[in-house]
Amino acid sequence: MAADTATHQFPLPAILEYPSSTPPELITQGAEGRLYKSTYLLPSIPCAVKYRPPKPWRHPLLDARLTRHRILSEARNLAKCRREGVPVPAVYAIDESAGWLMMEWVAGGPVRAAINEWLRRRRDAERAEGRAGDAMVEGTGEADADLVALLRRIVTAIGRMHKVGIVHGDLTTSNMMLTPWERGKEPANGHSVEGDGLLEGDIVIIDFGLASQSVSHEDRAVDLYVLERAFSSTHPRAEKLFTAMLESAYKETFKEAPIVLRKLEDVRMRGRKRSMIG
Ligand SMILES: Nc1ncnc2c1ncn2[C@@H]1O[C@H](COP(=O)(O)OP(=O)(O)OP(=O)(O)O)[C@@H](O)[C@H]1O
Ligand SMILES: [Mg+2]
Repeated sequence: MAADTATHQFPLPAILEYPSSTPPELITQGAEGRLYKSTYLLPSIPCAVKYRPPKPWRHPLLDARLTRHRILSEARNLAKCRREGVPVPAVYAIDESAGWLMMEWVAGGPVRAAINEWLRRRRDAERAEGRAGDAMVEGTGEADADLVALLRRIVTAIGRMHKVGIVHGDLTTSNMMLTPWERGKEPANGHSVEGDGLLEGDIVIIDFGLASQSVSHEDRAVDLYVLERAFSSTHPRAEKLFTAMLESAYKETFKEAPIVLRKLEDVRMRGRKRSMIG
C-alpha cells in the first residue's frame, strides 16, 4: 500500500520524496516518531526510515536539539551494536538535523505478536481438550520447547548487547523483531501457516531511541527488570518461564552476568517496596 502524502498530515522528510525512492508506506505512528518502509539504492532493497517530525508544542530550538540528539544517539548505538556483532538493523543513512534515520528493513514481525499468537493457539488447544486454557506455561513439556528456545535466544541477544557496553533503556517484546528462518518468508496477508514454525527465527533488537553506553551492573539490571515487567504484563501466562530463562541463559553470556543477576534481585526488591508504598 503506497500511502500518498496527503494522508500523512505533515511534510515527509525530503529523502522520501526523492524520485528514486519507492513511495513510503507508513508502518507505525507513535507519539514521538513515525516509521516508514521504503527502499534504499535499489527498488529491491527495502529499508526502514524512522522520522521524528518537529513537535509544534515544544520550543523550536529545544525541539531541534532534542531530535538531533535522539537520532544521533540511536544511530551511534545501533552502529556500535552492529560492529560488535549484536543482532540489530544496519544503519544506512542519517540526517539528524532533518530528524530521520534510515536503516535495514527487518523482515518478520515483533516478538510480542508471535508470542501472543502462540499463547492463543495453546489456549485454544487446551480448551479443545476440555481444559480451562488458563494454565501457566511451565516450559517442561515438549509442547513448550519452541517458546523456551525463543526466550533463550532473546536473553542471549540482550546479554550480547550488554557485553559490548550498551543498555537499551526500553526493552519490551515490541522492540524485538523475529525474523523467520530460511523457508519462512513474511507470511502473505499476515496469516502464517498453521502450527509449528511460529516462533522460529532470529531475534533482532530494535528501537535504540533510549539506549546509552554503559557497563554499569546497575544499569544492566534495570534493563533486565524493565523487560521482566513488560513481559509479565504483555504475556502473563509465560511470566514465570521468562524469569527462569532469564536467570539461566543470561548468566552464560558474559563474565559479569552473574553479578548483574544478583543486582537484579535488589532492583526487584526496590520495585516491590515502591509498589507497596504506592
Ligand atoms: N528496521 C526495522 N525494520 C522493520 N520494521 C521496523 C524496523 N524498525 C522499526 N520497525 C517497526 O516499527 C515499529 C516502531 O519502531 P520503533 O520501536 O523503533 O519506534 P517507536 O517505538 O515509535 O520509537 P521511540 O520509542 O524511539 O519513539 C516497531 O515496533 C516495528 O514494528
Ligand atoms: Mg518501539
